[in-house]
Amino acid sequence: MANRGGFTSRIGFIAAAAGSAVGLGNIWGFPYEVGSGGGAAFVFIYLAFCFILCFPVMATEIAIGRKTQLNPVGAFTALGYKKWRWVGKLGILAGVLILSFYNVIAGWAFGYIFEMAAGNFGVAEKFGDYTSQVFKVGGYGLVFMATTAYVVSKGISGGIEKIAKLLMPTLILMIIGLVVYGLTLPNSMDGIKFYLVPDFTKINGSTIYNAMGQAFFSLSLGMGALITYGSYVSKKENIVTAAAWVTVVDVSIAFLAGLMIFPLIGFMSGGTMEGAGGGPGLIFVTLAQIFGAIGGSWGVIVGTGFFVLLCFAALTSTVSLLEVPVAYVVDEMKIQRKKAVWLVAAVIFIVGIPSLLGNGYSAFFTNFITYIGADQPTDFLSFVAAVANDTLLPLGGCMIAFFAAHVWKTQNLDEELAIGAPNFKGSFVQKYLNFAIMYLAPVVLGVMFILTVLSTFFGINII
Ligand code: TRP
Repeated sequence: MANRGGFTSRIGFIAAAAGSAVGLGNIWGFPYEVGSGGGAAFVFIYLAFCFILCFPVMATEIAIGRKTQLNPVGAFTALGYKKWRWVGKLGILAGVLILSFYNVIAGWAFGYIFEMAAGNFGVAEKFGDYTSQVFKVGGYGLVFMATTAYVVSKGISGGIEKIAKLLMPTLILMIIGLVVYGLTLPNSMDGIKFYLVPDFTKINGSTIYNAMGQAFFSLSLGMGALITYGSYVSKKENIVTAAAWVTVVDVSIAFLAGLMIFPLIGFMSGGTMEGAGGGPGLIFVTLAQIFGAIGGSWGVIVGTGFFVLLCFAALTSTVSLLEVPVAYVVDEMKIQRKKAVWLVAAVIFIVGIPSLLGNGYSAFFTNFITYIGADQPTDFLSFVAAVANDTLLPLGGCMIAFFAAHVWKTQNLDEELAIGAPNFKGSFVQKYLNFAIMYLAPVVLGVMFILTVLSTFFGINII
């Protein structure tokens, strides 16, 4: 297996897995979900999902990957359960779908670097016009996909590990800088209140589904991305500690992103927090307006810096998304890695074209589908995101947990987790992980999957 390459150091794996986890999901997605979900109450539910449910699933994915040294489809075969390959294939499908729309948003963010650098803050007022200039933003998307492909083609230690090690600390420093800056502004405390003082009456079914979908998406779970990354991890690695680190880093950065954005919105809105519920446009519209209000060269510096940061974060995530189908094609179809990378990237870019067109340019893709019980049509990008993030990921997580505990068996999972972790056996953590993987994750995720599908696509709200 030496020719597959591997992570060369302990921190390298944690950095790469954290790089996968930290992305648009944390910095663009989390704040807008908090804003639309009513603030602090959403934050609490999200944190509970991450630590109670997602952390055990993460350890399981990494363990399956390291045990089999294979991609998510091959992993099931290697363990002797060919019938479970569909779970891996579903994961690959989810990865392809996610990268197809993720790259469109990354393209917008990439383009914003140049808008901000040119001092063109007015782009925020006309965000719809910006996204409908498909040749321009599509071009940015193409460059982004090519950059992703280039990094992945450098191989696992040469590309992914190096970029993650360099970019993660830079990212954290930049966010902290913006947090401190935001807290010096007037009315920033209203943002803090909105973000941290919960009002549990605001919770309903969709708050809970969105928090779960967000937790899975943000931690890169449920589609085998961490099975794939786990396949490059050495037997010396303590998987449980690594998973704990990745969870803590990811959650902390999402938390910091909120701490950065809500005080700025407090400042912008003069304390009313109007605009916090701005939805997916939160970063692109409200934040850019804030940079415009700062104005002058500070506005340019802060605005440009922010979108540079967002693109760095997105790149280490797109790299992990592309790695999954590439590992599948390399392992299972025996195609040479370099060729596989460019081929798969090209296909995914094409799959993403309707998502690109569905933001103003093409009326057909913009008003693509109207869910049963909904009064507004949903655009193609949001539709794909709902299918992949809120449906396929929890289903994948449910199946992976069920498989590990009841088909492969908990004892085998524990054997793998114990390698590199001398104190694991008999510990409280082991008992908790076993409980979570055997009962909690399959049941909760299975139920949530059904409730989410009923609610999102059919308008049937049980809770
Ligand atoms: N977690 C990344 C983010 O928050 C996105 C991502 C990367 C992802 N790899 C994934 C999501 C695998 C689900 C599965 O932006």
